[in-house]
Amino acid sequence: MNTDDTVRTFLDFYRERGHEPITGSTLLPPPSDPVLFTTSGMHPLTPYLQGRPHPQGRRLVNVQRCLRTTDLDEVGDRSHLTVFEMLGSWSLGDYGHSQSLRWGYELLRDGFGIPPEKLYVTVFDTDLESLDTWRELGLPVESTRDENWWSNGPTGPCGPDSEIFFWTGDGPPEGSPTTDSRWVEIWNHVHMRYERGEDGGLVPLRQVNVDTGMGLERLVSVLQGCRSVYETDLFEPWMGTIPLLWDLDERSTRVVCDHLRSSVVVLGDGVQPSNTGRGYVLRRLIRRLLTVLRRDDPSRTLGDLPGELVGTGTVREVLLDEERRFGLLLERGRRVLSRREYRGPLSEEDYQYLHDTHGLPRESVVGLKG
Ligand code: SER
Repeated sequence: MNTDDTVRTFLDFYRERGHEPITGSTLLPPPSDPVLFTTSGMHPLTPYLQGRPHPQGRRLVNVQRCLRTTDLDEVGDRSHLTVFEMLGSWSLGDYGHSQSLRWGYELLRDGFGIPPEKLYVTVFDTDLESLDTWRELGLPVESTRDENWWSNGPTGPCGPDSEIFFWTGDGPPEGSPTTDSRWVEIWNHVHMRYERGEDGGLVPLRQVNVDTGMGLERLVSVLQGCRSVYETDLFEPWMGTIPLLWDLDERSTRVVCDHLRSSVVVLGDGVQPSNTGRGYVLRRLIRRLLTVLRRDDPSRTLGDLPGELVGTGTVREVLLDEERRFGLLLERGRRVLSRREYRGPLSEEDYQYLHDTHGLPRESVVGLKG
């Protein structure tokens, strides 16, 4: 099943169960929003989870582009990406959590053909309703506390969740999601029923909602039997080009593909590199990718990228301009670090000073010191 079939199957399944497809929002929330980027499918729906009636009803489904920097250090493994698409379904004060879990299981098993023995689920430890539902459906369940609570930030809608994991190991399944990392989370069903206030307290929401989110690239990698998200059809343009251009180890190739693809998307949404806010996130992504790219061979340049990947216009120009600026920064960094006081191991204070006074990010200093 390719990516388009996967999206269609998901949307059709929920449409047949009364969900209205809604258009995904931009990656850039409005200026009044406290977050820099849309980080989850539910984020643009926050007011509706809090009780405002949604013009398209109480059952919704969509595909939402998201950007997360919280998992940046995990990017390059099998399943984490900076920019990804999330398949989402919602009950805004309509059906309950148990119904959502039943449909979720039905879709994975019958719609996507995933063998149930490759699934394991987790639930919040006091969520007995979900525990009973999964037991009745016959899936192995594990209860946790910390791992099964979802919130989009320090304040706002949140609640206990139930996560569905897929076995990615070569042999038969072993252990459980908390004991074996080859169980990879594919879908999260959140029982969105609280609001966390500024004082940290929990208040019940006006309505009890269900919010589900499933990373599209991850799901596609499972359905296509790939070792990682990078081997799916979605990454073909990147993985068919980058390894031919530059001889990098597997993890570095993945990081370069992820950060380049994410930077191109963010640039395409109109963000320009800068030292604050969204622009800084973009600048960091480009600098991280340049650090990885040039670790073994400083002559490698983004100028080698073919037009089919990054175009020939503004996106390419911005990438090359950032590369030039980064080159100048590193030259300055090299000069500063050659001073006697920076020859040995650096203290936290040194890193802080190098950052604040010379604009040298920690990862660049680490790279320069080798
Ligand atoms: N909000 C939950 C998540 O992002 C489910 O959509 O995982």
